[in-house]
This record gives sequence, C-alpha cells and structure tokens, in this order.
Amino acid sequence: MKKIKILTVFGTRPEAIKMAPVIMELEKYPLIFDSKVCITSQHREMLDQVMRLFNINPDYDLDIMKHNQDLWTLTSSVLLKMKEVFEDASPDVVLAHGDTTTTMATSLSAFYAKIPVGHVEAGLRTFNKYYPFPEEINRVIADSISSFHFAPTQKSVENLINSGIDKKNIYLTGNTVIDSLLYTVKNHTCSFDNDYTDKNLKTILLTSHRRENFGEPLERICNAVKILVEKNPEIEVIYPVHLNPNVRNTVYNRLSNIERVKLIEPLEYAPFAALMKESHIILTDSGGIQEEAPSLGKPVFVLRDETERPEAVESGTVKLVGTDTAKITASVQEILDSEEAYRKMASAVNPYGDGMASGRIIKILSAHFESCCEKKLDIC
Ligand code: UD1
Ligand code: UDP
Repeated sequence: MKKIKILTVFGTRPEAIKMAPVIMELEKYPLIFDSKVCITSQHREMLDQVMRLFNINPDYDLDIMKHNQDLWTLTSSVLLKMKEVFEDASPDVVLAHGDTTTTMATSLSAFYAKIPVGHVEAGLRTFNKYYPFPEEINRVIADSISSFHFAPTQKSVENLINSGIDKKNIYLTGNTVIDSLLYTVKNHTCSFDNDYTDKNLKTILLTSHRRENFGEPLERICNAVKILVEKNPEIEVIYPVHLNPNVRNTVYNRLSNIERVKLIEPLEYAPFAALMKESHIILTDSGGIQEEAPSLGKPVFVLRDETERPEAVESGTVKLVGTDTAKITASVQEILDSEEAYRKMASAVNPYGDGMASGRIIKILSAHFESCCEKKLDIC
C-alpha cells in the first residue's frame, strides 16, 4: 500500500506544543503514514525545549532564527527554504499550525508548489487586521490557501464559513493543545520544583510577549504588577520572560529587584503546566495559555483589548482587561478581596477540546487519501 506522505512544519514554541500530539499520533501508524517533520526554527531555545520534552527528531531544520529579526527577513527565509524541503520531501500534504509567520510563509510556499495544506487550529479571528499583528493576517492567508481546515471550536467553524471557505473542507476537531496538556500532565512528573514559588504566598503567574504590547503597554502592565505586590503582601508574581529582546528589555528594566516579583527564564512545558496548576491567578496575553488555563480552573486576565478565543470569556473564566494599569489592578484586586468573585471565575471549563483532536485529524487525512487505514485506526 502506498503510504500517505505527511510533512508537519512548525517553528515556534506554541506550534511545537500543539503539533507534538499530531506527530505522535501519526507515528503510531508507520504502515499508513510516512511522517516527516520540518522545523523552521523561527524560535531556537524555546522550540528546542519542546522538541526535547516530546522527543521529536526533525527530518529538516531550517535554522532561520536571527537575533531580533524583522518580519520581512523571517517571511522570506521560510518561503525560500521551504521550497527546497518540498522538492526533497514531495509530501502529499503539509500540516501547519495557527497563525505564526512560519505558518503563513509555509502555506504560501506549499501553494506555490501546489501541495495541499492542512491547517490545524483554523478559523480563529478577531476581524481586526492589526490585532493581533501580524497573526490575524497570517491565519487569514493560511486559511485561504489550505485544503483542510481543522477548526478547534464551533465558533471557528462559523468564522471559516463566513469567510467563504467551503463547508466540506471544514472539520470540527477540538484544539490539539488539550491533547498536549493532558499528555504532559499524565506522562511527565509535574512536580514543579519550588525554587520559584513560595507556599506561603498566593502566586500570580504572568506572561506577555505580543507585538502590540511592546513599549508603553508592557510598561503599564509592569506598573500594575508593582502596584499589586506593594498593596498585597500575601501575593507573589512569577514571570517566565519570553526571549524576545523587545520584551526582555522593558521587563528587566521595570521589574528587576522588586520584592515578590520573580523574573525567570522560559520554562519547559511540563514545569510550566505545573506552575499554571499551582497559580492562584494568571495574567497573560498568550493565545495558548488562554486555552489551557480554563481547563485547570484558573482565573485568567487577558492583557489584550481583543481576543480570537471568545469561548472562555463567554463562560466567565477569562476576562479581557487590556493593558491599562488601573483596570488591571482593579480587576485583580477584586478577586483577591472577594472569595465569591474569585470562585465565580475559578470554575474549570474546557471549551477547547477533549484531548482527542489529533486522532480526529489523522483519521480525516487517512479517509481523504482513500487509504484503507480507517478500519485499522479504529482497531488500534
Ligand atoms: C512568535 C510569533 C507569535 C507567537 C510567539 C510565541 C510571529 C511573527 N510571531 O513571536 O505569533 O505568539 O512566537 O512565542 O510569527 N528569540 C530567541 N530565542 C527563542 C525565541 C525567540 O532568542 O527561542 C528572540 C530572537 O531574538 C528572535 C526574537 O526573539 O528574533 C523574536 O522572535 P519571533 O519568532 O520573530 O517573534 P516572537 O515574539 O517570538
Ligand atoms: N509555555 C511554556 N513555558 C513558558 C511559557 C509558556 O511552555 O515559560 C507554554 C504555554 O503553556 C503554552 C505555550 O507555551 O502552551 C504558549 O506560548 P506563547 O505564549 O509563547 O505563544 P502563543 O500561544 O501566544 O502563540
């Protein structure tokens, strides 16, 4: 039987976390799938952390990361280098994820090579082309090129239909981030080594890296952190600082040497998941954390004005607070002061998946390529 040649491409930490369970699922069926992995290495250290955790050995590493590189350099490197990979691998389908520049340029490169693209986490939208920037347009481009749209939620299915994507190419699968989170919590000892957290304090976990927040917005977030720790001696703030220099310069300038504010290096995924579990409150502008934290029952304040992930906002676990210092401090203070208000936000909800999205994705692919593996997949 001719195997289905699948090339999975990603380049950043969140894509790796969300594609790892798809790769693991593909690898369960070596007689059906010829699975190859290409990393662009848009990220380096933060990507390698995930590669180690999930034990993924890439077949291609484009090694494109340059210090503080701009979007033009990033896009053109991926676009050109993927051409060579496609020529070598000649896949039946390329899998790309989400909304990074790796995803957009890989999709475009595959389109030029007339190779079908499967877009994992398709259909997220804010409908504001500059917010998040450049992710909104990255995912619009990837969606318009893709032949398979693996949508995580009903809302994303509707977004795709409203964008004119043919219904027959849209599949509601759930988000693979839940597959990854459940796998990690089950298979890796998640005991967070307590060099960071103080058991006598309530931990507030903070992450911020969005381009829209560079400069003043991030300064305002830092000011909110200062005010919160000064006012509340029972809390500490832990911030694994993203390696983007535009983030690090501001954060280390504003928050170094402040009592009960701990700036640490990006954590591996397993200890980070454990830290999310241990935290009292999470402040973030991350996409992935907005999806993971609700299933852990943590109140999340999103440091953005808009989100493409409205599901957990609707269920009340996630609140959009933007980057205004007063608004952030007031929102956090409210749930520090009121158990009732805290409880309202802290109920565990999981609108993003059931942990079986990756299995669905590969079944859809196998069925499409008319392999006889559907039966085998059911048996295994
Ligand atoms: C990228 C994605 C963003 C995603 C985020 C996840 C784009 C345009 N941006 O943003 O959508 O939410 O990843 O984290 O696709 N760096 C390192 N080591 C690393 C990673 C980054 O040193 O492991 C530094 C480098 O100087 C690099 C810079 O950070 O040039 C920016 O990296 P880049 O991938 O362009 O942007 P991110 O802000 O990480
Ligand atoms: N994450 C991690 N270590 C950290 C911070 C985040 O493993 O120190 C994980 C987090 O659990 C989530 C993903 O990285 O799965 C989110 O990545 P990021 O916030 O960089 O990108 P986004 O999701 O916003 O694109």
